[in-house]
Amino acid sequence: MNVFEAITQRRSYRGEFQNRPIDEADQNRLIEAARWTPSPFNVQPWELVIIQEAEGKEILADITQQAIIEQFKDSKFLDDNSRWMCLNETEWQDRGDGVLLKDHVTLPKLLQNCPEKLTGSILKGLLKNAKSLAIVGHLGAGKMPAKEIATQVREAPLLVLVTMNTERCPPGEGATRWMWLSMGMLIQNMLLAATSRGIGVQFVSAPLESEADRENIRQLFNIPDYNEVITLLRIGYVSSEGGSSVRLKPSEFVHHEKISN
Ligand SMILES: Cc1cc2nc3c(=O)[nH]c(=O)nc-3n(C[C@H](O)[C@H](O)[C@H](O)COP(=O)(O)O)c2cc1C
Repeated sequence: MNVFEAITQRRSYRGEFQNRPIDEADQNRLIEAARWTPSPFNVQPWELVIIQEAEGKEILADITQQAIIEQFKDSKFLDDNSRWMCLNETEWQDRGDGVLLKDHVTLPKLLQNCPEKLTGSILKGLLKNAKSLAIVGHLGAGKMPAKEIATQVREAPLLVLVTMNTERCPPGEGATRWMWLSMGMLIQNMLLAATSRGIGVQFVSAPLESEADRENIRQLFNIPDYNEVITLLRIGYVSSEGGSSVRLKPSEFVHHEKISN
């Protein structure tokens, strides 16, 4: 697979993984891809925590589960989400951005069997009113998706906590921004290397959304306080085709010479 194929064929993998560990050669490949990431002044601010034992997976699964239950009770969070949540595939393809709700949570059976149009209008009604959805959240609506995603975290062959050592900081006022840029590049390098080896990766953001959870994770995994926990990746050999994805057209984001008003 050449680089362009890896870039365009990479997908966020939310399915089940094959039930086998990532072999050593492939782990080394991912680490090597991370290692060659560019960084300002070559400071290489990254530190990775590779988790393969059940204990670490269990901790992260529990924090993920609780975080999602809380998110479902938070009307602001739900409101912010609804802007990017597409309810049916046609709308999603037309928009070219956002995520498809059913890729993220298994919908209740009743809705799964509904025609797409009807599901769309039922969910739209719910999502339009984040306050009412938050009430449903308080009644426990987040429990099912929380459990589902936590199980995926618990059962992943490999988890990686990507952290940034803020002591390895380049000179200048923009230091932190440049370091963050570099961290993004590191993650993409890993994702592309993974794609080329039939390895799927999913970002799991829920356990890192709140300051309190990040702090908790930092302490439980012995991560020094000058390291920022950037993301959690769930990794394994794929067992099915990656999902589909959409993008804006070049004409919607490329400008020539100036951005016209
Ligand atoms: C910083 C960041 C956080 C993300 N968090 C999540 C997440 O928590 N759960 C998830 O399933 N996907 C997550 N994603 C994946 C995006 O939803 C995905 O990249 C986007 O929908 C485009 O789909 P694609 O990666 O398959 O092309 C995240 C991606 C990024 C870059």
